[in-house]
Amino acid sequence: MSGEAVTENVGVVVAVRGSVVDVRFDARLPPIYSVLRTGEHGQIVIEVLAQRDARHIRGIALTPTQGLARGMAVEDTGGPLQAPVGKGLLSRMFDVFGNTIDREAALTGVQWRSVHRAPPPLARRSTKSEVFETGIKLIDVLVPLERGGKAGLFGGAGVGKTVLLTEMIHNMLGHHDGVSIFCGIGERCREGEELYRDMKDAGVLPNMVMVFGQMNEPPGARFRVGHAALTMAEYFRDDEHRDVLLLVDNIFRFIQAGMEVSGLMGQMPSRLGYQPTMGTELSGLEERIANTDTGAITSIQAVYVPADDFTDPAAVHTFSHLSASIVLSRKRASEGLYPAIDPLQSSSKMATPGIVGERHYLLAQEIRRTLAQYAELKDIIAMLGLEQLSAEDRGVVARARRLERFLTQPFFTTGQFTGLKGKLVSLEDALDGCERILRDEFKDHPESALYMIGSIDEAKAKTKPGGSATPAGPESTIAAKTDPKRTTGTAAKATPEPHPKPQQEVAHAAAMDES
Ligand SMILES: Nc1ncnc2c1ncn2[C@@H]1O[C@H](COP(=O)(O)OP(=O)(O)O)[C@@H](O)[C@H]1O
Ligand SMILES: [Mg+2]
Repeated sequence: MSGEAVTENVGVVVAVRGSVVDVRFDARLPPIYSVLRTGEHGQIVIEVLAQRDARHIRGIALTPTQGLARGMAVEDTGGPLQAPVGKGLLSRMFDVFGNTIDREAALTGVQWRSVHRAPPPLARRSTKSEVFETGIKLIDVLVPLERGGKAGLFGGAGVGKTVLLTEMIHNMLGHHDGVSIFCGIGERCREGEELYRDMKDAGVLPNMVMVFGQMNEPPGARFRVGHAALTMAEYFRDDEHRDVLLLVDNIFRFIQAGMEVSGLMGQMPSRLGYQPTMGTELSGLEERIANTDTGAITSIQAVYVPADDFTDPAAVHTFSHLSASIVLSRKRASEGLYPAIDPLQSSSKMATPGIVGERHYLLAQEIRRTLAQYAELKDIIAMLGLEQLSAEDRGVVARARRLERFLTQPFFTTGQFTGLKGKLVSLEDALDGCERILRDEFKDHPESALYMIGSIDEAKAKTKPGGSATPAGPESTIAAKTDPKRTTGTAAKATPEPHPKPQQEVAHAAAMDES
């Protein structure tokens, strides 16, 4: 340790077990949350989590503990973990300690603040209800987000959470004059690097801050990186009075890091191996995401759902903090219906007539009803075939399938691999399209004409003059009725689910023509 540290509070390592370090302090026991430094250059950072007795603390390392040995001196820094705040943060990328990791110039003009802060008191919170438009049809129509609210994107691995989050950053930056803070917790490092590059290319970096504690880092770092990001968000809200968009990918990893820390600290696990303190830890973080009279923090959080089990305690606890839950479904993703949001499982407390208006509300209700009826009819269609349905039910199916396709949308961020240019759709256009589909204006258009488009007028452009009379592609109800092979039960099962990936669709259609 350095020479001047001798006059400071110095302890001695007495035990090291993975990330957990016990230290003896003979003079003065550092309080909880104190940060200790040890190692040859003070590179090992430990946060105090427990005072074992009058002389011993137990802490969790926020850095790897390689080279740490019993008997090594430990310096008490005399304060908690701190994060930088200030204008200088903009366009920079940080780790949990507030070190820049973007290989740019040194950080200037910042102050340092403790990452442990209390949520704003009730009296300072504001309760405006204003809708936050995303330009994504399905979200704006059926699951409107709240400005200053918390929205969760729930889903198992690989269903499109990160893509949707990135798309939202992209769409938001045009008409959102606030600051965006992206916090990567426990996901792949590569994703952070890609995001940084994408944001730089898109020219949106000047209003963005990124903080990462990814999956290669020790549990302590992943556990605290969310607090560091929130400290920065609170600075922009409270000191600069700006609106903040806080994106978290992935909040489940925060809970998971807490579980690892708790396990390492020797606490008994609770349900399904989760830490007994999960509820308090999560609310300690989530409650800081609040609106005050000076500014709002809108947060969108990806929530990994282990094994696609939505009754998992981590998912359930997270649900309870959110004002909108967007549930991504593997089934829709496998059908190519991106964004793979399950409209019947997703919900938003903004979807009330008082907030979105009577017309939007009634329309959303009707869309949900149509989709729900179709979901019920699916079993009958699978068993008996579409022909057995009444004409009225067939109408419902046709409308629902057209709605489902119209509610897909090409994304800017997936342009490289879908080959389709992204589309931003205003709420008005989205509502208009849904209304016209419900009024059967498009019943003679092929379903594929509605797939991966922006506003509904593109469907008209996609269908060539006279084209509306031709059979509507492989997934169409007409094809199902006329194709002789499809009258058997097995064929009927294949009927309802299309493969609407554009290339596949074309291939399919070609195959159908030949047969
Ligand atoms: N909107 C979309 N359009 C096209 N492909 C998508 C879309 N969303 C997701 N995908 C596909 O799914 C893959 C996984 O998405 P990702 O967001 O990384 O999943 P998650 O974060 O949920 O694990 C992407 O690499 C992409 O191939
Ligand atoms: Mg992801």
